[in-house]
Amino acid sequence: MKEQTLLLLKPNAVISGNIGNILKIIEDNSFDILQMEMMTMDIDTAEIFYSEHQEKAFFDKLIQFMTSDRSIAIILEKENAVSDLRNICGDTDPYKAETGTIRKLYGLDVTKNAVHASDSNENATREINILFPE
Ligand code: RTP
Ligand code: MG
Repeated sequence: MKEQTLLLLKPNAVISGNIGNILKIIEDNSFDILQMEMMTMDIDTAEIFYSEHQEKAFFDKLIQFMTSDRSIAIILEKENAVSDLRNICGDTDPYKAETGTIRKLYGLDVTKNAVHASDSNENATREINILFPE
């Protein structure tokens, strides 16, 4: 069954000129791009988006980074979209990510790791509703 998931190109991916490179990987992996929007996240939105990490030591640093510049939010659809997207993004830490994954190619460190990908159908729906409220 087709699923939707949310991909977010983080500020470091946008600033470094890798939007096209990442979208090429997405298209080569047969995802349908349903909606796409460039935005600079405000602090309230970022805190809600990442609310599951509120108690973590890295939370403030993550919010600071995610609100520092433009991101691109993208709704993707295909069969097994959630797990397939997680696989091509790679490990959270670019240094641990496998060769050829988006984070290995375009991540700088664990915070500036180029992309976010929803980790479940439930979170995909939640995250899509936050960033595409219409
Ligand atoms: P994401 O949510 O971004 O797709 O990545 P993920 O599931 O692999 O990672 P998660 O644990 O949900 O963490 C969300 C984001 O927080 C930053 N982070 N920093 N130790 C650290 O400094 C640390 N751990 C996580 C990362 O930017 C990660 O993408
Ligand atoms: Mg996550």
